[in-house]
Amino acid sequence: MNPQDDRSPSRRDWLRAGAASLAGLSAIGGAAAQEPSSAATSSVIGMKFEPKPKLRLGMIGVGGRGGGMVQNYLAVENLQITAVCDTDKPKALKAQAAVERAGQHPPAVYSNGERDFENLLRRDDIDFVYIATPWQWHVPMAVEAMKQGKHATVEVPAATTIEDCWSLVDTAEKTRRHCIMMENCCYGETELLVLNMVRAGLFGTLLHGECGYLHDLREILFEDRSEGLWRRFPHTTLNGNLYPTHGLGPVANYMGVNRGDRFDYLVSMSSPQRGLDQWREQHVPKDSPKWKEKYICGDINTTLIKTANGLTIDLGHDVVNPRPYSRVNALHGSNGLFRDYPPRVYLEGQPGGEKYSGIEPYQEKYEHPLWKHQGELARKLGGHGGMDFLMVYRLAQCMREGLEPDIDVYDAAAWSAPGPLSRQSVAHGSAPVPFPDFTRGRWREKRGWLVETPRA
Ligand SMILES: NC(=O)c1ccc[n+]([C@@H]2O[C@H](COP(=O)([O-])OP(=O)(O)OC[C@H]3O[C@@H](n4cnc5c(N)ncnc54)[C@H](O)[C@@H]3O)[C@@H](O)[C@H]2O)c1
Repeated sequence: MNPQDDRSPSRRDWLRAGAASLAGLSAIGGAAAQEPSSAATSSVIGMKFEPKPKLRLGMIGVGGRGGGMVQNYLAVENLQITAVCDTDKPKALKAQAAVERAGQHPPAVYSNGERDFENLLRRDDIDFVYIATPWQWHVPMAVEAMKQGKHATVEVPAATTIEDCWSLVDTAEKTRRHCIMMENCCYGETELLVLNMVRAGLFGTLLHGECGYLHDLREILFEDRSEGLWRRFPHTTLNGNLYPTHGLGPVANYMGVNRGDRFDYLVSMSSPQRGLDQWREQHVPKDSPKWKEKYICGDINTTLIKTANGLTIDLGHDVVNPRPYSRVNALHGSNGLFRDYPPRVYLEGQPGGEKYSGIEPYQEKYEHPLWKHQGELARKLGGHGGMDFLMVYRLAQCMREGLEPDIDVYDAAAWSAPGPLSRQSVAHGSAPVPFPDFTRGRWREKRGWLVETPRA
């Protein structure tokens, strides 16, 4: 089916999402759009995995991202991939062959239409699933996985509406299964170094963070394959931050969000839209159905978040203009600051006047144990500089040893929420929009993030 056709699943879903997004606007700032639909059940904060020496994984969506993650999962000890699912059968078969080549029993393949994942989820030889499908599938797949007794791990953003954020929280609480957003950037070498420096108090009292997703995706968005088949459509219906979590997750961890603080409200504004129009003019033949599309998402979205403890975060989004890649990743405290791209530090009293120093002086002392013990293998595997492997290594460790996950469903909901909330604010002249408290009051409990030191 032609993805530009209004009847194609991707296009249709985004038209619906856009309508839902606008429908929610009348309730801006009001409780109606923000509260969970169902009565509160028992929290899954701190809920530990049932320890399992061997882990069995089902993969749903083995395209660009999921297909690439196969090698990372295969590098984890005592982890078996028992089933793979993709509507694109050649992709599923490619993943199956990769697993077999690694010496595992060939996983079962599910490629019989867009709901065949339900059959994968009915299997009784799967402990957890990894969902790497287009955004509109994340929530239905994660919810069904939890209902079928599996822990759900889901790509970013976990959800694109507030209703769906609550759906993940409600389902995790009811089913007592975890829903973990696979925010790999939280495991970056620099991000974990900064986290350790924060814990050591080097920056003093934390005040302000800067983060974002600044990545020129224009060519990818217009391709007739992979993300080009679905990721351009949100730009035709939604105006706000479409991809908030890569930069925000690490900053939330520095600040202890959901572990003593929480996102309170945001204000947001979008620049004019130009990038996709300009790319189309320069690269897309005039008879292409892509010329029927009207892009409404402002190129550069700037969102300011205030936390309950008063800290501020500047969150950016730009995927449609020429620029070097950056997640910004900056942190300001009463005793100095860190800035990334390139990584540098300025602390009160450091020699050399008002100049940044590199991070080298801090690396040996503050390198995170995950990187100390597993960094070599992670770097060898590649995958976003090694953070992809460290994320799955650590997840498997939590599952095998019966720890709680680093990123829980409340983080998935809170870090994804700036997507829909920024749209509401943009549509209302940058009005403040409150975040729901997905933790139902438990954000006040001070807990660490990735505190249990990983073993070598
Ligand atoms: N964390 C990261 O660094 C990172 C990087 C890239 C993409 N992503 C995320 O990964 C997800 C997938 O992105 P991608 O780049 O792999 O896109 P993609 O289009 O390359 O792959 C998606 C795959 O899902 C399959 N699919 C679609 N509907 C399905 C269904 N109903 N059942 C089974 N399979 C279905 C498609 O056939 C395709 O193979 C997105 O959420 C994206 O945001 C994350």
